[in-house]
Amino acid sequence: MPQASVIVVGNEKGGAGKSTIAIHTAVALMHGGVRVAVIDLDLRQQSTAHFFANRRAWLAANGANAPVPLEFAVPATDDANTRFEEAFDRAVAESDFVLIDTPGSDTAVSRAAHAKADLIVTPMNDSFVDFDMLGVVDPVTLELKRHSLYAETVWDCRKQRAAVDRKMIDWVVLRNRLAPTEARNRKRLDERVQALSRKVGFRVGPGLRDRVIYRELFPFGLTIADLSPAIRPVAMSLQHVAARQELRALMSALGLSGFADVEPIAAE
Ligand SMILES: Nc1ncnc2c1ncn2[C@@H]1O[C@H](COP(=O)(O)OP(=O)(O)OP(=O)(O)O)[C@@H](O)[C@H]1O
Ligand SMILES: [Mg+2]
Repeated sequence: MPQASVIVVGNEKGGAGKSTIAIHTAVALMHGGVRVAVIDLDLRQQSTAHFFANRRAWLAANGANAPVPLEFAVPATDDANTRFEEAFDRAVAESDFVLIDTPGSDTAVSRAAHAKADLIVTPMNDSFVDFDMLGVVDPVTLELKRHSLYAETVWDCRKQRAAVDRKMIDWVVLRNRLAPTEARNRKRLDERVQALSRKVGFRVGPGLRDRVIYRELFPFGLTIADLSPAIRPVAMSLQHVAARQELRALMSALGLSGFADVEPIAAE
């Protein structure tokens, strides 16, 4: 039996864009025709679970058709770890890709998920404030002084995983909410992220710009990848054409373009 691929979106920093990336990746994969299972381990916020609940409600209310994932709920109870293991086993057996969203904090169940990943995707905000979650660097020489706690977590999971099935977990860091106006700050951040990538052991993926379209479709349970002549709750603009292109580039950097489908669209 071929095993499902497991994608874990993680970063112990809150608000970095984990749920946004998880939702967009899941939807782009589903448009490629593969079976996607979603597990939302942010047991308190449940942003990703809410998004897919919105999706089902909006599609039903509008008589529209778009793919929906298999969803496995893990309750916020004392036995969350056991419940996650059960959900995970079913998700792997019933899908081609398992997409796991995690909370912006270190929890036992989030660690367990990281150790099961084939691919860890870590969005970080486009700011030096978020940089610390990758590693602590000397402010003058920019040399890496020590790994951050999150990078240590990923390394522990890599070791565990290698011991179980000799698999190397792929780790991609993406810059999220890139601001179009901050060219100088961005260049300095790019240099630092690239320098850290070799030392800390991740790949750098293309970033998503800060765009209203990445958040305004949330109440409908839709993403930029869903928009079509039949599904169009907002009018198309050039921003949307560019966002769709960014999502394609993201899927390609994650090595998922063969499974995903995000056709270019035209502005109205
Ligand atoms: N590229 C983007 N463009 C515009 N808005 C964005 C973008 N990425 C994220 N956001 C918005 O930023 C906020 C935080 O994003 P999100 O909820 O995806 O982060 P998170 O890492 O899942 O947060 P948490 O740690 O709280 O779970 C949300 O309001 C989201 O809509
Ligand atoms: Mg979230």
